[in-house]
Amino acid sequence: MNNILFDDLYSEATNTMEHSFIREILKVTKSVEGIISFAGGLPHPDSFPREKLSELFSEVILSEGSEALQYGASDGDKIFKDIIKNFEEVPYLNDDELMITVGSTNGIYYFTRTLIDPGDIILCEAPSFPGSITSMEACGARLVGIEMDELGMRPDLLEEKLEELTSKNAPVKFIYVIPEFHNPTGRTMDLQRRRDIIKVATKYRLPILEDQPYRELRFSGERVMTLWEIARTEFNDPKLVTIAKSFSKILGPGLRLGFASGPPETINHMVKWAQKVNVSPDCLTQRVTARYIERGYMRSHIKKIIDLYKPKKEAMMDSLEKYMPEGAKWTNPDGGMFIWVTFDESIDTDKLFEKAIKNKVAFIPGAKFYPKGTGKKNEIRLNFSYPDTEMIEEGIKRLAQLL
Ligand SMILES: Cc1ncc(COP(=O)(O)O)c(C=O)c1O
Repeated sequence: MNNILFDDLYSEATNTMEHSFIREILKVTKSVEGIISFAGGLPHPDSFPREKLSELFSEVILSEGSEALQYGASDGDKIFKDIIKNFEEVPYLNDDELMITVGSTNGIYYFTRTLIDPGDIILCEAPSFPGSITSMEACGARLVGIEMDELGMRPDLLEEKLEELTSKNAPVKFIYVIPEFHNPTGRTMDLQRRRDIIKVATKYRLPILEDQPYRELRFSGERVMTLWEIARTEFNDPKLVTIAKSFSKILGPGLRLGFASGPPETINHMVKWAQKVNVSPDCLTQRVTARYIERGYMRSHIKKIIDLYKPKKEAMMDSLEKYMPEGAKWTNPDGGMFIWVTFDESIDTDKLFEKAIKNKVAFIPGAKFYPKGTGKKNEIRLNFSYPDTEMIEEGIKRLAQLL
């Protein structure tokens, strides 16, 4: 047999693309028996409504299968879109302002594809979600991180950076933010911070991509308007913000379902990409999720997830308080799945990670969440949604002992 290697034929983009390091880290942590892992970003399996979904999958296949098993529209199932509009309390939204995506990653990718030529710049929070950063980099984007404070991306630094970049005619294309229960820090922008970011974006005529996968998982505090809503209502600017949302954290990431809403022109371009890449989102999953929402199951299910995660978060906060050495600080998220811990600057969390694995506890070193080469060494991300509540104290204790 002649085993021909095609290595010399791969595209430049393929050759420079790396595997997701978080997925690699998760592989390492999974292979250690008895490990307590705060590393993943996984919802707890008890948050998957298995029975209801299995009933609905069967029912939809039997009663609506001729449509739901057929090829579907690239912008998504019309029935599902209408149900989403009602669920999101935006019944006035036009169909061409909304598309269904294969998880929100897919929407973020199409938005990036629509705007980015190789070398173009995206401004994001530093730190930010590596899944998005790497998908944007795969489109040729250069990511520039803007430092955060407790309320998220700092608008003064955003403006300073934009002043610098525009004075050099640098090709800045958009601003990417995760304003609520931010991954990895757990921070949430308050209303004023959201307005301030919008003001800067407006001044520099830059669109905003608002990533909102955790919005429904609020344990405390008041709900804040999305940047998408603020731009439309207070700024009378329906074109400024495109929002990406997801069913991954409220139904199950395996369903691969999300949606994006933005100006019709942008959505239209994103749908053109969808036509080429995946033809349409999964039609069956869309219809099942539509019926799930329509029958009124979603709100009470979200409440169940909150009741599952809130004690986990509290257990983690209590254990951090009890065991962490002086000098360590951590965020207190109002929702979502993550806590961000900052240690004394002398601590190198890449080295800590190696020791932690040997001691059967895992986290993600903070440097992994920054655009290439800009990370800090003394931070870590802890996930509280996946580990069992009883294991959280033991895991934090193990970690603190290593420090
Ligand atoms: C900030 C952020 N955006 C997007 C996603 C991707 O979610 P999806 O499963 O909908 O693609 C995640 C998942 O962890 C996330 O944390």
